[in-house]
Amino acid sequence: MTRPAKSEASTDHALLLVNISQLLTLRTSSGNSGPRRGKDLQELGIIKDGAVLSVGKKIVSACKTRDALRDPWIRKNRKKIVELDCAGQVVLPGFVDSHTHPVFIEPRLVDFEKRIAGATYEQIAEAGGGIRSSVEGVRKAGKKLLTDKVLSALHEMAEQGTATVEAKSGYGLTLDSEIKSLEAIRGAAVKWPGTVIATLLGAHVVPREFHGRAHEYVDIVCKQMVPLVAERKLAQFVDVFTDRGAFTAEDTEKIFDAAKKHGLGVRAHVCQLSETALRPLLRFNVASFDHMDHVSETDIRLLTKSETVATLVPGANYFLGTDNFPPARKLIESGVAVALATDYNPGSSPTASMPFVLSLACTHLKMSPAEAIAAATVNGAWALRLQERKGSIESGKDADLAVFDVADYREIAYWVASNRCAFSVLNGLMPGARSH
Ligand code: NIG
Ligand code: FE
Repeated sequence: MTRPAKSEASTDHALLLVNISQLLTLRTSSGNSGPRRGKDLQELGIIKDGAVLSVGKKIVSACKTRDALRDPWIRKNRKKIVELDCAGQVVLPGFVDSHTHPVFIEPRLVDFEKRIAGATYEQIAEAGGGIRSSVEGVRKAGKKLLTDKVLSALHEMAEQGTATVEAKSGYGLTLDSEIKSLEAIRGAAVKWPGTVIATLLGAHVVPREFHGRAHEYVDIVCKQMVPLVAERKLAQFVDVFTDRGAFTAEDTEKIFDAAKKHGLGVRAHVCQLSETALRPLLRFNVASFDHMDHVSETDIRLLTKSETVATLVPGANYFLGTDNFPPARKLIESGVAVALATDYNPGSSPTASMPFVLSLACTHLKMSPAEAIAAATVNGAWALRLQERKGSIESGKDADLAVFDVADYREIAYWVASNRCAFSVLNGLMPGARSH
């Protein structure tokens, strides 16, 4: 049992979960560093009849309940510690949802119906729907309304076990509206106890008024958006939709150059609709390549040697009704680090539920429940470069826990479209606990 460090020795916000049927620490015994690859992705570091102690925002220890209850510090302070009996429950690290687009106003119901009638995502976009049709709402909206929308999405995520969220702008597509979107993310983040990582996605699509003048819009992203966002510290990452109908690899290199120049990390939407050549982008130390449905064999081989995470978002494949899914098995077996995320957005993936994404990963990507959990926690943390703080239950990491009313961790992916999350602990706090 690890003692609280001197700075944490106060019992303020001390929380002890005991009798946990399965405590999934996600600790690894392989000794391999870096994101989880291959067989290491199956390792959940399970402690049966486990206990977790957190003090303040940090985890102090994860061990057997009997060892926790024998610990002198816990015995001495037991009356002051909030103690929860988690008999019959599974506890795992709070999910890291490393890809979401929560700054939008309306659902896209017309697109939804058109797809049901047979139109594809690209056909709808070409006919004036798609991403561009979410732009007007965001441009017109006040910051307060956008902030409320983001905050309600964050709460919905936490109710389903998510503790860390990457949130992108990308439906403003003007300097002012992208800044307003990022300010809404910041405004929501300060009201939510979990952790939010903001990303500028000014290069989501070329806005209507720049039709045929993409290079001019790319210039605005590089010369106006990126510098101002960096100066105001409104985002940690810059993302680009590098695919057919959006931006080219050359545009992306320009935008990544600007991002690097201003000290921002980079990530990209790639290979969703067509193959994107990844090699020219790798020199930017890309945090993650997301979607990856059409990734080539050559690029898979390149990624096995890099710390760039392949983030799969099967909610988008499901909701767009595509037959094609990203080649998760090939990626994992080749040694690429794979993460899972919701891609929460109004066009292709209107779900805030990581358990649902885990379910899809098992049924459609043929990932095992254990692999899906590791991809949604520890590798999600790597995808956001938060691996030192997030993704596993270990002494010194942030106290982010998801408590599920299930006897076996495999049930988290098994019960489709049913929320078995009892409550989440976000940075040591327990907002809106449904039980206990
Ligand atoms: O990740 N592909 C680009 N962006 C989003 C979709 C956004 C939208 O359709 O509104 C995605 O799927
Ligand atoms: Fe996306």
